[in-house]
Amino acid sequence: MSELNLIMLGPPGAGKGTQAKRLAKDFGLPHYATGDILRAAVDEGTELGRKAKPIMESGGLVPDEIIIGVIAERIASPEAADGFILDGFPRTIPQAEALGEQLERLERRIFAVLLIDAPDEEVVKRISGRRFSKETGQIYNVHFDPPKREGRCEVDGSELVQRDDDKPEVVRDRLATYHEQTTPLIEYYDERGLLRRFDGTRSPTEVHDHIRATLATLRLEEGL
Ligand code: AP5
Repeated sequence: MSELNLIMLGPPGAGKGTQAKRLAKDFGLPHYATGDILRAAVDEGTELGRKAKPIMESGGLVPDEIIIGVIAERIASPEAADGFILDGFPRTIPQAEALGEQLERLERRIFAVLLIDAPDEEVVKRISGRRFSKETGQIYNVHFDPPKREGRCEVDGSELVQRDDDKPEVVRDRLATYHEQTTPLIEYYDERGLLRRFDGTRSPTEVHDHIRATLATLRLEEGL
């Protein structure tokens, strides 16, 4: 059976992180979210964080060479030996090419690229309601998926906060960056037969069920 090496693709707020967390739990895989890694580096005040902070606050992308190194290390780590979920990477063609070259060197390959799509007006609304816990990484939404106790994570009661780059003016810039620099990856992976599309406007459970069913079919086809 092939390793479950998955890539989550889609605009900001489409639900990549929400679905990646569910899939990581389902399959016992590590979830590497470049946005989370960069936000942790900003909070810790590391060199990576200092470089990334102003770029993230402007809605742009950190330079390819920085982020490629961050992900390359993780993919090669023992915990990723049976598969991994990449969330937020690759985001540009050079990042996709670097990933492809690294996997080739490791004699591994991408199992599927999961594109979760949703229109701009929907994701802007979602992002305005997003809250998360820095302690557990759990994501909520005050409009669509509120926690049982207001402002508190259901896992450990930690405080729920808003991301610095979730301000409306930054969200618009993040969306523009996505359309300009990341959407070419849709064609890139489609041409390679790896792209699978999911309707991100459905409920989180419906999207999850659809992804699970698609992966099960792909695994069956692999085994034939
Ligand atoms: P990153 O953290 O990756 O942000 P993003 O791609 O903009 O994606 P989001 O985390 O905003 O959205 P998501 O799709 O994960 O949605 P979520 O599940 O949270 O990147 C941040 C920044 O870091 C970038 O702008 C860049 O500067 C830098 N960066 C990161 N990677 C980089 C790279 N590779 N190269 C260069 N720079 C990089 O859901 C959103 C909300 O909607 C939540 O509140 C959730 O509860 C709700 N929701 C989810 N699904 C549904 C649903 N089906 N129905 C209703 N609500 C839903």
